[in-house]
Amino acid sequence: MKIELTSKSRISEVDFSNLPFGRNMSDHMLVCHFKNGAWQEPEIRPYGQLEFSYGLHALHYGQSAFEGMKAYRKDDGTISMFRPLDNFARLNKSGARLMMPQIPEEIFMNGLTKLLEIDANWVPTAEDHSLYIRPFLFASSEFIAARQSDDYTFCIITSPVGPYYSGSVKVKIEQEFTRATGGGIGYTKAAGNYGGAFYPTSQAIKEGYNQVIWTDHKEHKYIEESGTMNLMLLIGDTFVTPPLTDRILAGVTRRSIITLIKEQGWAIEERPVTVDEIVDAASTGALKEAFGMGTAAVVSQIDTIGHKGTNYSIPTPADGKAMEIKRLLNDIRLGRTPDTNQWMVDVVQPVTAE
Ligand code: COI
Repeated sequence: MKIELTSKSRISEVDFSNLPFGRNMSDHMLVCHFKNGAWQEPEIRPYGQLEFSYGLHALHYGQSAFEGMKAYRKDDGTISMFRPLDNFARLNKSGARLMMPQIPEEIFMNGLTKLLEIDANWVPTAEDHSLYIRPFLFASSEFIAARQSDDYTFCIITSPVGPYYSGSVKVKIEQEFTRATGGGIGYTKAAGNYGGAFYPTSQAIKEGYNQVIWTDHKEHKYIEESGTMNLMLLIGDTFVTPPLTDRILAGVTRRSIITLIKEQGWAIEERPVTVDEIVDAASTGALKEAFGMGTAAVVSQIDTIGHKGTNYSIPTPADGKAMEIKRLLNDIRLGRTPDTNQWMVDVVQPVTAE
């Protein structure tokens, strides 16, 4: 791996007490090109500008996918990544559907580990803060013929972040626009899945919501995801979440929370949920809690669900199950409780004074 270190760190310019999501990039990045059918030597270099012409294939046809993952500073100072191999596997799953080359595990993991060693000081220490890691892969040939690219580029950039939402969120059940269709790319983290969501989301924001709850493409009858997160409902004493399909992103946070719920001995069902069921449960009070689950937002309590112009209030108890789940996850990430599922992968051990 080639390594070029920055001659001047930007870290002193960053206000770690005010970190708008994804605005402050750490000093270094990983770049690895795929050319002539083979991966080239990966390189860590100062964070900087793209080196391509305006014919850059990914800009024209959206052959591009990304991941979102996090590294934490545990209470003992160790820097540790949360389930990095799950994100690695999902990026290659997205890549396969979008006809991009598979990234070798050693390029992903060695590159990521080295990058975090170099930029260890960028991992925040404050509660609810972490280093957001953005691996991405894009078509980097410079031609505009409408076929798959020949060349690709894999990068990792990182950004210190605080909480994604400042409090609980209001969501609107979206029954006009669609995020994903059957046989499509909804299960991937294709860049275009997010670009296509901005317009419907902006409409919901104008109406006073923070996000939408997506419904199925055929009938808008079943709920799917919430914005960029998976959705969990607590109906009566049972957690309920829609099952994974080719229209739903298989969230790493979702999978982890399902495991934690089962470990607590709480009831959980992965099954289709209709809009009618959620509206009915919200109006009778059977819907005890609702929350979004994602890497960026972690556990995000939902206080309002809007449907056809009516807003239904959902309790957001500070001592409820959503917050308990968030604490369980947080305790594992910060090394406060045994990591029995081996989710954490340590990167940098703290330097101990002799
Ligand atoms: C994540 O949680 O990593 C996401 O995908 C959200 C991101 C688009 C901000």
